[in-house]
Amino acid sequence: MTIIVRPLHPIFVAEVSGVDLRCPVDREIFREIEAALDRYAVLIFRAQPLADEQQIAFSQLFGRLETSIGTIRKDRKHRLGRQEIADVSNLDEDNNVRLLADRWCMMILANQLWHTDSSFKRVPGKVSLLSAHEVPPNGGETEFADLRAAYDSLDEATKARIDNLVAEHSIFHSRSLIGYTDFSDQERATLPAVPQTLVRVHPGSGRKTLYLASHASHIVGWPVDQGRALLDELMSFATQPCFVYQHRWRVGDLVVWDNRCTLHRGRPFNNTEDRRDMRRTTVEDLASTLEQSHLAEKS
Ligand code: OGA
Ligand code: MN
Repeated sequence: MTIIVRPLHPIFVAEVSGVDLRCPVDREIFREIEAALDRYAVLIFRAQPLADEQQIAFSQLFGRLETSIGTIRKDRKHRLGRQEIADVSNLDEDNNVRLLADRWCMMILANQLWHTDSSFKRVPGKVSLLSAHEVPPNGGETEFADLRAAYDSLDEATKARIDNLVAEHSIFHSRSLIGYTDFSDQERATLPAVPQTLVRVHPGSGRKTLYLASHASHIVGWPVDQGRALLDELMSFATQPCFVYQHRWRVGDLVVWDNRCTLHRGRPFNNTEDRRDMRRTTVEDLASTLEQSHLAEKS
C-alpha cells in the first residue's frame, strides 16, 4: 500500500490519503509520510477522528513528545487526561466555553500571532499534530507560511546580513505582545529566554530556512530596537500571501506541520460563544538550534 499525496498550494502543503491513522502505521507507510512532510512541510489528513491515545501513538512515530505547557499554569486543572496533549480549545475543565477574561484564553489568543511551536524552549518543537474535535461555524482557520521559500526569496545582501545571527525567544515576549504580562516570578523562572539561530538548514529537505516566531524578542548582541526591526521586517516578508496557506477545518482533520521551517497562526472566531476543540501533540527536536548548526559545521 502506498499513500496518496496531493499538493494543495504552489510551494508547500499537501493532502494525504490512503491511510487510517487510527490503526498502527507500518514502517513503510510512515517513511512515505515522513518524506511527504520533508517536501511539503504541512500535511492535511481528512476524516481521521482520532482518540487522544491514537493521536499520541501516531505522533510518537516522529519522536519524543513534549508535555503540555499548560503545566506552567499551576492554578489550572487539565481538561484532557494526558499531559502529551496540549488543549488548544476555548473550553474549560467542565467542557463549557470560557469567558474572554479567562487567563487560559489569553494564552490561547497568543496562538493568533505568527509563531512556531516551542521555539521558546532550548530544544524546540520539531513536528506538531493538531486534530479537530469541534470547529466553529465561522473563522478559526489556521494559516501556515513556508520559511524555506521565504528564505530563498530574500535578496543576497539580506541573506549575508542574517546568516549567523541568533535571536532570543521567550514565551513571555509573545504573551506581552497581546498585553498579557500577568505571570508570577516562579512561572517566569520555569521558561527562561533561549537563543535560537535565525537561519537554519532544514534537515528533511537540505534547504536553508528562516527560523522566526512572535516569541523572538531581539537579536543577541544587537541593540534591541534594531533587532526587533529586523525581526519585524523578516516576519512581514515571510508572511506575504504568496508564502501562506489557509486551512479551513472540518471535524476529524489532522494537520501535521514541521516547526523547523514553517510559521503558523490561528485566525479569530467567536470564541465566547462558539466551541472550538483542537488538540495538539508536539514532537521535540533532537537538539537546540545552536547545537544543530555546530554539528552541521563539523560534518
Ligand atoms: C497550536 C496553534 C493554532 C490554531 O496548536 O500550536 O498554534 O489555529 N494553533 O489553533
Ligand atoms: Mn502553535
